[in-house]
Amino acid sequence: MLSKKMEKAINDQINAELFSAYLYLSMSAYFAQKGLPGFASWMHVQYQEETFHAEKFFNHILERGGSIELQPIEKPVNTWKDTMHVFTETLKHEEYVTKRINDLVDLAIKEKDHASNSFLQWYVNEQVEEEDSVNDIINKLNLIGNQAGNLFMLDKEMGNRVFTPPTAV
Ligand code: FEO
Repeated sequence: MLSKKMEKAINDQINAELFSAYLYLSMSAYFAQKGLPGFASWMHVQYQEETFHAEKFFNHILERGGSIELQPIEKPVNTWKDTMHVFTETLKHEEYVTKRINDLVDLAIKEKDHASNSFLQWYVNEQVEEEDSVNDIINKLNLIGNQAGNLFMLDKEMGNRVFTPPTAV
């Protein structure tokens, strides 16, 4: 059984993950409108991943006999200065999510909720990957600078990403 504190914190996290999905869907639209379909597709995969993260938390609450309480999702911004700005904002956002996950782990430890602590470790590892892949794109964008030709090549590469739901959930 989940404690009330843990139940509330995970319900809040469902909202944070759904907001992340919304934010990345907004970024996907931005890139589609800018004529960068590869970046748009990459962000759409990101949106799918965040929806998956939210559903995984949703299932955890139900499996532990808790109650789901969905909340309104904040409106995301829909415009950015340029491609680099989108990814620096993405990195900032993922660092914020990492902090939230770490706080959830701290709470699970405090509440002696070993099942939630074990469950949360998947997210701890996922955040390392999330931050790393965004950092990698920022590095590539830095190398490219203002060269449009290279940006279009990177756009092609970005379009190769596909969403594959992890099997061990
Ligand atoms: Fe669900 Fe990108 O963190």
